[in-house]
Order: sequence, then C-alpha cells, then structure tokens
Amino acid sequence: MCGIVGYIGEKEAYPILVKGLKRLEYRGYDSAGVALLNEKGIEIYKKQGKVVQMERIIPAEHPKANIGIGHTRWATHGVPSDENSHPHYSQSKKIAIIHNGIIENYTSIKSGLEKRGYTFKSDTDTEVLVNLIEEVLIHENVSIDEAVHQVVGAYAIAVIEEGNHDQIVVAKKGSPLVIGIGEGEYYIASDATPFIEYTKQAVYLEEEELAILSLKDGLKLKNITNEIKIPYVQELALELESIEKGGYDHFMLKEINEQPKSIFDTLRGRLLVDKGTIQLGGFNEYEKKFLSADRIIIVACGTSWHAGLVAEYLIEDLARIPVEVEYASEFRYRNPIITERDIVIPISQSGETADTLSAIKLAKEKGATIFGVCNVVGSSIARESHSGAYTHAGPEIGVASTKAFTAQVTVFTLIALSLARKKGTITESMFRQLIRELDAMPSKVEETLKVDEQSKYIASIYKDVPNCLFLGRGINFPVALEGALKLKEISYIHAEGYPAAEMKHGPIALIDEDMPTVVVATRTEHYEKVVSNIQEIKARSGKIIAIVTQGDTVVSKIADHVIEVPDVDERLSPLVTTIPLQLMSYHIAVMRECNVDQPRNLAKSVTVE
Ligand code: F6R
Repeated sequence: MCGIVGYIGEKEAYPILVKGLKRLEYRGYDSAGVALLNEKGIEIYKKQGKVVQMERIIPAEHPKANIGIGHTRWATHGVPSDENSHPHYSQSKKIAIIHNGIIENYTSIKSGLEKRGYTFKSDTDTEVLVNLIEEVLIHENVSIDEAVHQVVGAYAIAVIEEGNHDQIVVAKKGSPLVIGIGEGEYYIASDATPFIEYTKQAVYLEEEELAILSLKDGLKLKNITNEIKIPYVQELALELESIEKGGYDHFMLKEINEQPKSIFDTLRGRLLVDKGTIQLGGFNEYEKKFLSADRIIIVACGTSWHAGLVAEYLIEDLARIPVEVEYASEFRYRNPIITERDIVIPISQSGETADTLSAIKLAKEKGATIFGVCNVVGSSIARESHSGAYTHAGPEIGVASTKAFTAQVTVFTLIALSLARKKGTITESMFRQLIRELDAMPSKVEETLKVDEQSKYIASIYKDVPNCLFLGRGINFPVALEGALKLKEISYIHAEGYPAAEMKHGPIALIDEDMPTVVVATRTEHYEKVVSNIQEIKARSGKIIAIVTQGDTVVSKIADHVIEVPDVDERLSPLVTTIPLQLMSYHIAVMRECNVDQPRNLAKSVTVE
C-alpha cells in the first residue's frame, strides 16, 4: 500500500526521500512523487510508474531543499495516473500533502469545498483533504486539527506549508506512521526502513495523534482532542542488512533461504528442550484464559489465514480446543457470535492489515480476549491486542509472504504444545518427542532448501502452463492452498488449492495432459489415500509433481516428478513441505520475467478494506 516518507533538517531532503521511497517499494504502488519546500515555495514532481520513472522528470540539478515529503501511491480513488499521484497541492499551491488511507466522507467534504470555489485536478480523496486543510488553515485561520476532526476514515498524512519552513505536520488514524529522531532533524515514514541508517530513535504515532516536527520547537505531540502527549521514544532493533538483498537476486529468494534462521529465531528463548518446557511470554500470562476458553477464533487474510488453518489442525489435534478460522473481512461483516469466553487470535505479518484490525475491534467490543500473532513489532495489530506472541521472522520485504508463514506456523506449534501439555491431552513422552523434533526444524528446513536446483528444473518444464492444481490432505491441505497462492500471485498462473479428496467433487474435470497437479504426498496418516488420488489423476493423463518423504518408493513410480523432503512428524510437516512450493513458484516467476518482489496490483500491507 501507499508509502510515506519525509525529512526536515540540515541535509538535502531530495536524496533522502528518493532512497526512502525505494525502501518502501516493497509495499506495492503504482506512482511516486516528492514535494520539496524551499524559499521559492513548494515544488512537486510526481509520475505514474516506479520511483525510477519519477526520477527521470527531476531536473539534473535536483531542487535544493531541507524539507520534503515523498509518496508511493497504490491507487484507491482514481486510476494510477500522474494527476492522481501524491503529493497534492492545495488550490493556492501553498500547502502540499501526502496521504495513506481512505477518506470515507470525501464526497460531502468535496461538495462543501466546491461551493466555496475550490476546483479539483484529480479524482482523489487526498486532494479534497488538502483543500480542507487550506480552508481551515488559511481562510478560517484555525489549526489543522479542525480539518482532521472532520475526516471519517483512515489516514496517515504529512503536510508542508509555504511560509512555514520550519515544520512538517503529521497525523495518524488507522494507517501507520513513525517518526525518526536524528540530531537536529526528523524523519517520517510508513515504517522505519527509510531512515534506519540515520537514526534508531523512533516514535510510533498512536491512533488519532497529531505531531508537529519543528526544528525550532522540537517534537510536539497531541491527540486530536488537543490533549498534549509525551512522545514515547523507542530504540529500534532493526538492522540495515536485514532490509537489503544481501547478494540474492530477489528479496523473496533471500527470505525463502532465511527460513532456518527465522524459525530458529522464533523458537529462541521459548523452546527450552533441556528443561523440557516452553516459555512463551505473552501466552503464559493468558494461559488460564486459554485453558478455560470455549473456543479459539483465528482471524486473518491471505497467507496468514493459511497459517491459521494449520493452527486449527495443531490446536484441535494436540490440545482438543475447538478452533474456527475466519477470513477477517468476512468475520467483521457477518454479525458473528462472540462471547467473553472466546479467544480471538489475529494473525498478521505486517500487523497493519485493515480487515484484520477491524475484526479485532469488533471482537474486543464483544468482550473477547485478543491474542495477536504478528511479525512487525509495535504494529497496530500488536498494539490493539491484549497480549500476543511475536513471530521473529525479521523484516519481510518480498510481497509474497514466505518466512512469515513458517514463523507463524512455528508460533502456533509452540502454543498448541503448551496447551496440550497443560490440558494433559498428550502424554509427557509425546510432548518431549515433539519439542525435540521442533528444535530440529531449523536444520530440517536447511536440508530441505537443497531441493532448490530440482525445483528450478521442474519450474523450467511447467513455466508456461496456464493452470495448476495443488492438493494436500490434513495439515497439508493449507500448504496446498499456500502453494497455489504463491504461484498465482507472483507468476500470474491460475492456480487452485484443494483438499486432495475433494478433487473428485469437481476439479477432476479439469485434469488433462496440460494441467499439472502438485500433490503433497508425504508419509502421513493419509498417505495411501493421497496415493489413490494421484492414481486417479494419472488415469486421466494428468502430470504429477509430488512432494514426498525422503526414501519414498511408491509415489516416485507413479508421479512425473518427485521432490523429497526430510522425514518429520506429520504435525511439523508444513514447515518442510512448504519450501519446495515456494521455490517452484519463485523460479517459475523469474523464468516468466515477472516482478517477483513487487507483483502487479499487490501491496505488502493492505491498509484499506
Ligand atoms: C501472500 C500475502 C498476502 C498476505 C495478506 C495478509 O503472499 O502476502 O496474502 O498474507 O495480505 O497480510 P498480513 O499477514 O500482513 O496481515
């Protein structure tokens, strides 16, 4: 989604803005722009397309300015175009704004402004907001808060004003905004990646807060009811190397290869094999609630929803607590029955997904306990939750989620095992065996990554197919869904995931020699049944790519291709079976010359409904 960056200080703003915008590219966008404030006034340069396209319209001697704001736009109101790109001028060109979010009541504000003589050059809600700000600041001579008060919807905004060369004003509701505090300078951004090499001191704006970043008066923070707030400055743990490609061609490939480490980091300090115990901070505090809960409701979107489905298998199987897994977007609009005895677990990599956030708010209103599973520390979902467990996957920059998924599955394995032990639903020896196996997962995943070359070879055979089916059973059914999602989102090949047994209730009609099927056929309780499904496909001339357990001798005789993964307990198998599916999708997308890290139309954190 849109990315925001800004700078005020002694340095040249333009290079900082451009570098910052490139760091935010991973969020997904279709146009880019900057506004620079100097003694001549505000200069705006903006262009549909990528940041490099915007750079081409900048004069060779870039404009000198020490204050500037920049934006990558992901179109909501109005098509991607130069006019609709941000920043937007106000009518007098004395104010410029960048905005992330959606102003829901923009049509009524717009018609009010039109009556007062304002005209609009773009189709955006943002141009309406900047003119509302102009109206209150310049014509009504009151503060910007007045404009912000009138807005219904979500926003993270940054505003600069001619004649006010000492400050940037920012405000936030529903969309993320973080301030970086340097020596006599301030940075602003949607996340800390644009300024991490300049400062690690950061203030995350809370909901409905407004800040004035002034070189003269420092940082003034208040909420929109004008209550002065003390900024909470935190030291960021983010390292520059973690947001760079580190020699890989793409972030996605780097992140796939980081999984042994991200799983290890997610387990570190929590899984204490020698002591035979699990210490999961936020979870231990809420353990009693979990143990007495009527049910657990998991709400999430996309890949995180798939991790939720894996969690359902784990928690129901091991701890015998009923689990429901819902798309956050459906949950919030279907008047769900939620009680104070329910635990709602939102899962989110970004921690900013608008649908998931709204689902949390609804569940909170109904009295449920919210236990967030998020990757981004300090994110909105983490802050809205009563308690939670972070996945320590590190920054995920590739739009297609990979290491966040396996980290989420890892956290749920810890939760399910803790609950099972407390409830006595598994034996102590089984608990010990599973934690030993879980402890070995980083090295099992490392071993699995060796299938890279083979995955690439298979990708080269199937890279041009128009459709692909993914099948799995039990805990590997969500893995099939995830495999299909990975393929479609980065290679634009139509793919569907199904429970293997469900195939004969419809999808089997699609099977012919041109439709490959990827089947997770590891040695599990359902193995024989999956083998039968494979036979059914072969009988119809379908091509089979099977993910099998090392040493398998049955499927390898029937399938067209097999990829072997290490032999692990079925309940831990998604951590290894996912890897070849990620790699195949990656290689197919590269061979099809797709933009792997920033697939078309997609955004990394979906901050609008
Ligand atoms: C798929 C993908 C998306 C996200 C979804 C939820 O690769 O990245 O489907 O999983 O938008 O995002 P988070 O987890 O940030 O809430």
